[in-house]
Amino acid sequence: MYTNLILLILASAHIWAARIELSDHDMHPHLPAVANPSDVDPAEGTSSYWIDNAQKTVQEKATRPLNQNTAKNVILFLGDGMSIPTITAARVYNGGEETQLSFEKFPYTALSKTYAVNRQVADSANTATAYLCGVKANYGTIGVGPEVTRYDCPAMTNTTNYAHSIAYYSQLQDKKTGIVTTARVTHASPAGVYAHTSNRDWESDSNVLNDDEDPEVCADIATQLLEGDTGKNVNVIFGGGRAKFLPNDVEDDEGHKGDRSDGVDLIKKWVSDRDSAQYVWNRDQLLALGDVQNVLGLFGHDHMDYNLDRDNTMDPSLAEMTEAAIKILSTGENGYFLFVEGARIDMAHHGAEARVALDETVEFAKAIQAAVDLTDEADTLIVVTSDHAHTMSYSGYASRHNDILEFGGTGSDGRVYTTLNYANGPGYKLNDADGSRHDITQDDYEATHYRFPAVAPLGSETHGGDDVAVFARGPYAHLFSGTIEQNVIPHLMSYASCVGEGYTACMDNQNKQKVHNYI
Ligand SMILES: *[C@@H]1O[C@H](CO)[C@@H](O)[C@H](O)[C@H]1NC(C)=O
Ligand SMILES: [Zn+2]
Repeated sequence: MYTNLILLILASAHIWAARIELSDHDMHPHLPAVANPSDVDPAEGTSSYWIDNAQKTVQEKATRPLNQNTAKNVILFLGDGMSIPTITAARVYNGGEETQLSFEKFPYTALSKTYAVNRQVADSANTATAYLCGVKANYGTIGVGPEVTRYDCPAMTNTTNYAHSIAYYSQLQDKKTGIVTTARVTHASPAGVYAHTSNRDWESDSNVLNDDEDPEVCADIATQLLEGDTGKNVNVIFGGGRAKFLPNDVEDDEGHKGDRSDGVDLIKKWVSDRDSAQYVWNRDQLLALGDVQNVLGLFGHDHMDYNLDRDNTMDPSLAEMTEAAIKILSTGENGYFLFVEGARIDMAHHGAEARVALDETVEFAKAIQAAVDLTDEADTLIVVTSDHAHTMSYSGYASRHNDILEFGGTGSDGRVYTTLNYANGPGYKLNDADGSRHDITQDDYEATHYRFPAVAPLGSETHGGDDVAVFARGPYAHLFSGTIEQNVIPHLMSYASCVGEGYTACMDNQNKQKVHNYI
């Protein structure tokens, strides 16, 4: 009896000690030697394979000419909430550790610092202001400088406080402009292209009224897309969010009521206000588009569905929308600026739905591949980035090609843990009835919408404060390097495409010479 008690005390003391001072074994577990799974290329087991690969990369980098053409076209791809662990995990989900997503093949990368002027961790509004308008802003505000705080209606009407997007400056150079997103087209990221608002939630006049403000004074985002200084000139708009455009007593083509209180049908108005304009609301109509200059495509009354839930006969993929947009915008002589957002990576993460987040990232990569296939690296700058990170981590010592959505190992409590985990969010699991950590193997963890585990419970998982990546290809892509403030991104795109009020490649005739001398 006594002996047992002493043993128990000793055992607890051992666990206690181990918690304070990790042994080398704990830090670097003596995992069993495992053979590579049969689907791993056997050549990987030879040194020459890795040396040859590395040498190819050296050759490629050392001989790659700098592209100093003026960028006729600029396409900005934004993976909302696409943190670096999201990219890595999506790569594994898509094809394995050794593969690359389309944009990972781009030759230049940078890191982007995403914090807001007034917050450590950003949202999609202040970041859209940074990566589209070139100004860091306050959390929740879009297309206005840091002089404007959230909900300040009078400040947002003062045009001195406007931050103009690269779309605005591209329009001044007679370039066509377009927006493609899987969110409502009035959501924070796409709104960065055309809106000036002190509150990202003011998407319809009803949203403005709900906050006791006057939509006649502080125009809602949908109205700004029709009539705003930039919105009125956008040629192509593809995404979701019909409700923000329709009166609350009018049903859309799928029987959903609108959200507007002012009785204005903005869809009809958009088409009637423009020459050569068409409205489409489903995939067939999108794919059948003929010779038309302006197209409004709204493929959902709210956000578009996640790709894994999508009715692919009715709703286009992000890649299909991107292709259609590029075809229309390419008809202009002076080039175009196109913004494409994989919007729902972020929303899936908020729900701790890692499987959906990775799938949305793969869809985003497909849209980028579609743009690569339709454009010429000689005259089109493609930049791929994210607005902010999320809390999903990627860990454990799983063997090669292990299913990224399964288990990374076994905890010291004898129970498995997932490779992907969140710091907080709705995937938090209460302990099992016996008091031990929840046994995940009892869950339907292969379900599409399974919520991955979190340390702290929270209705919606939060954004992350870590830097995000930037990938670039085309004219002046080599300027996208180093660790930069997020608001530098549109300044670099403007430099490359010779738009805006700042320093551009066209102004600096000596530039090419200087670069050559340096080489
Ligand atoms: C507009 O904003 C600028 C800069 O923030 C400020 O100097 C000016 O007084 C404002 N104008 C009005 C009418 O409030
Ligand atoms: Zn978010």
